[in-house]
Amino acid sequence: MKKFFDAYQIVGNLANFYDAMLTNSGLLGRLALKFFWGLDDDAYQKFLAQAFAGIPKNFSGRLLEVPVGTGVLSLPIYRNLTGAEIFCADYSDKMLDAARVRADKMNLRGVKFLQSDVADLPFEDNFFNAVLSINGFHVFPDKNAAWSETRRVLRSGGTFCGCMYIKGENRRTDFFVEKFCEPQRFFNPPYETFASLKNFLSNHFTRAEVTHVESFAGFVCTK
Ligand SMILES: C[S@@+](CC[C@H](N)C(=O)[O-])C[C@H]1O[C@@H](n2cnc3c(N)ncnc32)[C@H](O)[C@@H]1O
Repeated sequence: MKKFFDAYQIVGNLANFYDAMLTNSGLLGRLALKFFWGLDDDAYQKFLAQAFAGIPKNFSGRLLEVPVGTGVLSLPIYRNLTGAEIFCADYSDKMLDAARVRADKMNLRGVKFLQSDVADLPFEDNFFNAVLSINGFHVFPDKNAAWSETRRVLRSGGTFCGCMYIKGENRRTDFFVEKFCEPQRFFNPPYETFASLKNFLSNHFTRAEVTHVESFAGFVCTK
C-alpha cells in the first residue's frame, strides 16, 4: 500500500509533464497522449466533455472531487462555479501542493483542499450534491471501499460522475498500462471493461449513463 501511494508522490515531482499530457499540450504531451492513450485532438475534446458531463455550467451546491491530483483539468472549471461549495481531496500531499499552487495562481479562494483516503472520507452521509472522480478508480487500491465511500457521502438524487480507464478498448493502451503503469503503481488492477462498468453502475444507481472514448469511460449517474 505504501509503495502504491509513493508512486503519486513521484508524479507530484513530475507535475509539468503529467499536466502537459493531461491537457494535450506541448509536443511531448500530445505525442504521449496519442501514442499511449490513442487520443488525437478530436478524441481528447470528447474525453474532456465526457469527463465533466455530469457537472452543469451553473452547478451550485456541494461538490466533492476525489482525487483532484494537480487540479489541472478541474480547477479551470471551478472558476465559473461561483455558487458551489467545492472540496478537493487527494491522498498525495505532493499532488495537493501542486493543486493549491494552481488555485492560488488562479485566485480560486473558495475551494477547500484536504488530504484524505477515498476509502475513508471524512464527511457525513449524504453530504454532497455531486461527487466527481476523474481518473481515480483505475488507481484506487481498495475499489470496493472507494465505491462505497463515494456513494455514502452523496445525497439521494445527487450526481456521481467522472471518468476512468477501462480495459479492452485499445491494445496498445492495455499493454502500456500492464507493462508500465502497473509496475510503477500508477494504476492498480482489477480494471473495469465498458460492459462491466455499465452493469455495475446500473445496478448501484437509479440512473447511469456510460460512454467511452478509446480506453476512457465517462459516467454520469444519479443516486
Ligand atoms: C491519475 S491521478 C488523477 C488526478 C486528477 N483527477 C487528474 O486527472 O489529473 C490519480 C490520483 O489519485 C490519488 N490517489 C490514489 N489513491 C488514492 C486514495 N486512496 N485516496 C485518494 N486519492 C488517491 C493519487 O495521489 C493521484 O493524485
